[in-house]
Amino acid sequence: MSTRPLDGRHRTVVRLGNPVLRERAQEVPRERFGTRFLTDLGRDLLRTMFEDNGVGLAAPQVGAGVRVLAYYVPGERDRHEVAPQVLVNPVLTLLGEPTELGWEGCLSLPGLRGMVPRHPAVKVSAFDTDGNPLTFEAEGFHGRVIQHEYDHLDGIVFVDRMRDMSSLMFEEEWEQYAKEKDLPVEV
Ligand code: NI
Repeated sequence: MSTRPLDGRHRTVVRLGNPVLRERAQEVPRERFGTRFLTDLGRDLLRTMFEDNGVGLAAPQVGAGVRVLAYYVPGERDRHEVAPQVLVNPVLTLLGEPTELGWEGCLSLPGLRGMVPRHPAVKVSAFDTDGNPLTFEAEGFHGRVIQHEYDHLDGIVFVDRMRDMSSLMFEEEWEQYAKEKDLPVEV
């Protein structure tokens, strides 16, 4: 388990219906890299994500319409831990076809679970909050979290990506009835 950031402050996560979740978020202008605005936003996203037991959170989910997202992948079962990360102005190259099915949830759709198809891997190019460039490839669960969070920057939520709405269920029913329970993504 990595050290969880204790700085930053908790922000309220907005729920589906708030128009900010359906708008395209704006690029962060270069002059804002390294500013208090951006470093605070990154820390607040991570703190809010941890306190609300999520593994990812995008800026529109706290009412900020900018292209910033945060995530943390806990190391569990056969999954490698990925340290807490904040991405600014991310650009994704989707690899393969969106055929990998997995359970997802979302802090903006509390209590719901659904099976969502995602690409098996993504190439990511982005910046950290200080403006340092980051490029890497993410696959599996890590890639899934990034695809889910990136969608929030374009006003897309996980239910929009579902092909079979019969898998949409509430958490308690998911616990009771869902088969092949991979750990859900609460993001
Ligand atoms: Ni989400």
